[in-house]
Amino acid sequence: MVETNEGGHDGVLRFPEGFLFGTATAAHQVEGGNTNNDWWVFEHDSSSGCVESSGDACDSFHRWREDVALVADLGLKAYRFSVEWSRIEPSEGEWSIAMLDHYRRICAACVGRGIQPVVTLHHFTTPIWLSKRGGWESRDAPERFARFVARVVAHLGDLIGMACTINEPNIVSVMGYTLGEFPPGLKNELGRHRAVNEAMIRAHHLGVEALNSGPGDFPVGMTLAMSELVAEEGGEKMRDAARELMEDVFLRELRDDDFVGVQCYTRTRFGPRGTLGPEPGVAPTQMGYEYWPQVVEHTLRRAADVTGIPVVVTENGVATEDDKERVAYMRDALSGLHRCIEDQIDVRGYFAWSLMDNFEWNLGYRPKFGLCALDRETFERRPKPSAFFFGEVSKRGELVV
Ligand code: NOJ
Repeated sequence: MVETNEGGHDGVLRFPEGFLFGTATAAHQVEGGNTNNDWWVFEHDSSSGCVESSGDACDSFHRWREDVALVADLGLKAYRFSVEWSRIEPSEGEWSIAMLDHYRRICAACVGRGIQPVVTLHHFTTPIWLSKRGGWESRDAPERFARFVARVVAHLGDLIGMACTINEPNIVSVMGYTLGEFPPGLKNELGRHRAVNEAMIRAHHLGVEALNSGPGDFPVGMTLAMSELVAEEGGEKMRDAARELMEDVFLRELRDDDFVGVQCYTRTRFGPRGTLGPEPGVAPTQMGYEYWPQVVEHTLRRAADVTGIPVVVTENGVATEDDKERVAYMRDALSGLHRCIEDQIDVRGYFAWSLMDNFEWNLGYRPKFGLCALDRETFERRPKPSAFFFGEVSKRGELVV
């Protein structure tokens, strides 16, 4: 699969026919005006530690046509976005047909432009009515989620290209119940953290069932945050415990799914007392964690190994002001992914996080993950060189290294 060329590069890496090069966003991070979910409340709570409010975000609620056109014009093959539960079910059991129509129009626009719509059903945000009675800790949260999923699939299923049930449930639980940085902002509540893991796993299974019972025929999976977990001197126990709580508890449950979505950004080092910061000499990104594109190869191998099902990188990228660094990061990440393919690992796609600079949760708008820059006054999206680089890789189905 590696051919040498004469352009002064080492070679050309070809990707299999049908390999999906795409980019991803999430409703709350780009739509703007999502005032009816737990995140909006959290952002506006001065004790939450959030840097700022999501506000208008990228105004994608109104400008989604531009977003879809951008993805298509860049030459990408898929657009991953999420539908906002709190818009579709603004109060318990009350359904907004207008909002379902809105998301249906986005799917249709993707299909019309030859892009696969990859729909995420839950990307971190929970409607206020559910969060008020405990969110994922509420006894019937998985059933409420499944009912919402059934409603969405009944309305859009015939247009969906691929579906992700829950985005990074392991981050929802660790950030919400152990680190206190996401709603509900609790710290060191390990028992509750574990219970939320279980609830989300159950919600995932019910969600898969709902997605498979509606119209359409598309692959269904969960997306998981994964990291290259490294034990430094004496850190083995901590590393193994984190691996179990953060990854394996979920991966073991995914073996009957159509794919597993791997979302990876960095590596995490462990010492005897827990996580260590970036290693001296390894540059931190705007997120404060290590610049580590090698994580893609590592986590793909691990996810495939534990689950035995096809893998898709549903998110990968780097937060940086230096777009050259982004290109370098993606080049290394994609080279590692290609080595997995050479080793017969069934990797189906790679989604760059993100289409454009957007609302990075508790950290606000400072981290820049976008292939496109966003003018926060005019909402103009301006593709960066990395967008064109990635678009070319997608159009040619190959990467020059
Ligand atoms: C994972 C999350 O799914 C996404 O919402 C977030 O912005 C990126 N990682 C970057 O941190």
